[in-house]
Amino acid sequence: MKDQAFRLRELVQKNIRPGERENRPWPRTLAVASGKGGVGKTNMVLNLALALTRMGKQVIVFDADLGLANVDVLLGLVPRYTLYEVVTGQKTLEEIVVVGPLGLRIIPGGSGIQELANLSSVQRERLVSDISGADLRADIMLVDTGAGISNNVLGFLLAADEVIVVLTPEPTSITDAYGLIKVLLQQESRKVIRLVVNRVSGEAEARRTAEKINLVARRFLALQPEFLGFVQEDARVHQAVCNQKPFVLEYPSCHAAGNLQQIALRLVGETRTTTARSRGGGSFLQRLFKFWDG
Ligand SMILES: Nc1ncnc2c1ncn2[C@@H]1O[C@H](COP(=O)(O)OP(=O)(O)O)[C@@H](O)[C@H]1O
Ligand SMILES: [Mg+2]
Repeated sequence: MKDQAFRLRELVQKNIRPGERENRPWPRTLAVASGKGGVGKTNMVLNLALALTRMGKQVIVFDADLGLANVDVLLGLVPRYTLYEVVTGQKTLEEIVVVGPLGLRIIPGGSGIQELANLSSVQRERLVSDISGADLRADIMLVDTGAGISNNVLGFLLAADEVIVVLTPEPTSITDAYGLIKVLLQQESRKVIRLVVNRVSGEAEARRTAEKINLVARRFLALQPEFLGFVQEDARVHQAVCNQKPFVLEYPSCHAAGNLQQIALRLVGETRTTTARSRGGGSFLQRLFKFWDG
């Protein structure tokens, strides 16, 4: 057992040498999470990814929602393979990547996400070397996660450079978001966590909602999540979902599209040094496995 762990470490280090990382750095990774389900994560990930792509950024979406992986559904795409085939050695990562509108690349997680947490060290070796060798050149990777605080989700959130917590003004969404933030900060007290409040009438309601979290966070937590932005309640979102077309492309002048443009602008305007606080060292994948290894 010890031998295998050692070999894995060796392999990880070998594959992600400093020199190599300069040529092929792992993209800035933002995981999108929520306590409660159905608050708009997947729509946010996809449309934010497209807004960033339109600004000239290279973006990869990693669909890590195990239960309801549906980035592809929002696009009307049917991926033939998922991470499952990568994990089981049938496909390479590049072979499963789906290309969406504007050239946006999507990694469909599917049932591979569950497998990922339960890999044998041989499978991990294959995956780490595959991913390190894959052409994942991008500026930003957005990770869509499932609702709640399962070990699986937590692994992705802790491995990411930054976490965006999506919530709505509903009390249940607020308390669940707070619960998630609390658990995250217990694991990593300096984690970069930011809030996007969805389905609001405007900025005032969004800030009031974020303030409810921060009121409690100030008293009980080590850190207060920052306010990143908001998305208005907009019938176009629902319409776009029904048409399986992302709203930033289908209705570029709708309120929600404008709101996401603002969030994208804010993210692009940041330098990596301001966002690197939470980097616990190591690559995304190294951190993911480190957490699961406990
Ligand atoms: N800003 C919004 N305005 C109106 N409806 C929204 C908005 N955001 C999300 N929705 C609705 O909520 C549903 C769930 O969104 P989704 O992104 O799938 O949530 P999650 O990924 O968090 O489960 C969407 O299908 C859409 O109908
Ligand atoms: Mg979702």
